[in-house]
Amino acid sequence: METKELTHKLLEWYQANGRNLPWRVKGGAHPDPYIVLVSEIMLQQTTVKTVIPYFEKFIQRFPNVESLAQAELEEVYRYWQGLGYYTRAKSLHQTAQIITEKYNGKFPSDKEDIKKLKGLGAYTVASFLALAFNQPETAIDGNVTRIICRLYHLTSPVDSIKKEIEKKATQLTSQDNAADYTSAIMDLGATVCTKQKPNCLFCPWSEACQSKGRADIEQIPVKNKIEKKQKQGAVYLIYNQKGEIFITKRSKGLLSGLYEFPWTDDIFHPLLEQSQNTQKSVNHIFTHINLTLQIHKAQTDTPKLEGRFVPIKELNTYPMSTLMKKVIKAAEINVN
Ligand code: ADE
Repeated sequence: METKELTHKLLEWYQANGRNLPWRVKGGAHPDPYIVLVSEIMLQQTTVKTVIPYFEKFIQRFPNVESLAQAELEEVYRYWQGLGYYTRAKSLHQTAQIITEKYNGKFPSDKEDIKKLKGLGAYTVASFLALAFNQPETAIDGNVTRIICRLYHLTSPVDSIKKEIEKKATQLTSQDNAADYTSAIMDLGATVCTKQKPNCLFCPWSEACQSKGRADIEQIPVKNKIEKKQKQGAVYLIYNQKGEIFITKRSKGLLSGLYEFPWTDDIFHPLLEQSQNTQKSVNHIFTHINLTLQIHKAQTDTPKLEGRFVPIKELNTYPMSTLMKKVIKAAEINVN
């Protein structure tokens, strides 16, 4: 089947079966690029279901780019509470100010201008231009990758065939209705060509699909195996005479601003000389590392570390990473 025919079939399927979502219009570009931008940023790391109520409240409070640009960042953060990844909110706020000040409130449609806005990676630049301006751009995410790999039965690890996936995805993109096409392929991935148990009976591409009916369909796309490095470290629960516990505030990196108990990812370089291994441990998998922390206890009023002692009952008021929450649970620290 020719790509033109596939494109046509998907658009037809979308007209009848595409989801109605609050940031969407069917039948071409969205009339308001601001709506597209807010939703695409929210959807970057968050599911559609979670985003919907946040999006609605956000747009009620900040209905246009000017209202967002004029707001205090603190207030924008409040509307973002629960979505996580706060840098997105900050970038969106900055972008609103750029649009207001540099472009007089009117979104540019030039790709180079859009690339210069804050917080938009290759995917979001493409989806924004397609959804807001109907430009024939191809946005490739996990859903699109899965669909393309299955359609053409591409079974090499995806990282090794990125160019091929991109080429095939680009060939399928509608030249005159990229807005609907972009929404359509997202919906196909979310509702039909799902990771598990794809619903091939309802797929507009099933006739052409080279993976349909094959035993390996759920294994496609094939992910690259990342060898995770095993690391052994230690985390220290340090108590003073009053029974308070010692915490420090991270100042660097992804988790900056969060509090934690002192820890090291290298068991051979302990942070404290006098501590007792409780024989309890926690495990956490990061992108490239599988980390196990032995939980140590220590008693001192003067640890030679930066931080402070806090009453156990107040521990809950300090934002902590998932890893530290695991430590609290494993060590059975009674925070309530
Ligand atoms: N994921 C990213 N953008 C989306 C959109 N506009 N609709 C549904 N899911 C999406």
